[in-house]
Amino acid sequence: MQKLIFATNNTHKAEEIRSVLEGQFTIITLKEAGIDMDIPEPFDTLEENARQKATTVYNLTGISCFGEDTGLETNALDGEPGVKSARYAGEERDFTANIEKLLDRLKDKTDRTARFRTVISLLLDGVEYQFEGICEGSITTRPRGGKGFGYDPVFIPNNAGHTFAEMSLPEKNQYSHRGKAMEQLMQFLIKK
Ligand code: IMP
Repeated sequence: MQKLIFATNNTHKAEEIRSVLEGQFTIITLKEAGIDMDIPEPFDTLEENARQKATTVYNLTGISCFGEDTGLETNALDGEPGVKSARYAGEERDFTANIEKLLDRLKDKTDRTARFRTVISLLLDGVEYQFEGICEGSITTRPRGGKGFGYDPVFIPNNAGHTFAEMSLPEKNQYSHRGKAMEQLMQFLIKK
């Protein structure tokens, strides 16, 4: 089975992606590849941050790899928190504080529509390919559910009726931004 390094330390993301690629590709996280670093996300776009993660790992290992970056974009707040989603409430990257800030900023807004957007940068033999996945939905007025991570308890995908944090992993993958981007990556690799 072809091996790919996934440039992340986020075990939730690795688990989601393994469940999409199961049986087709072996996914190795940074830790499993012996790379002890948190790759910075210094840019203003998901595309550049995803590329930075993949390029850093490729330059270190020479092994085909991919990086991804995700943002939550709300319409009422002009795309906030967007590319800064992880550090919305501060450098600690605290999920609870980020959710509290988002709910507070939206409390007087009638438009609660939002989308998750994921960009994946794949470096295959040194050549870059990008894939995008979008999940449209809305933000709840209070957190619901205990599964998943990040903003999952406050995001309901369109036509789902419950939050990502109330879904099993296979169900989240059917709707999710990351699931859609990974599906494209997988179809691309299968045809290669
Ligand atoms: P990053 O892609 O790791 O920089 O993630 C940006 C922020 O969005 C972090 O706070 C993550 O916890 C959050 N995030 C990324 N993907 C998801 C997801 O699938 N569900 C909920 N929150 C997410």
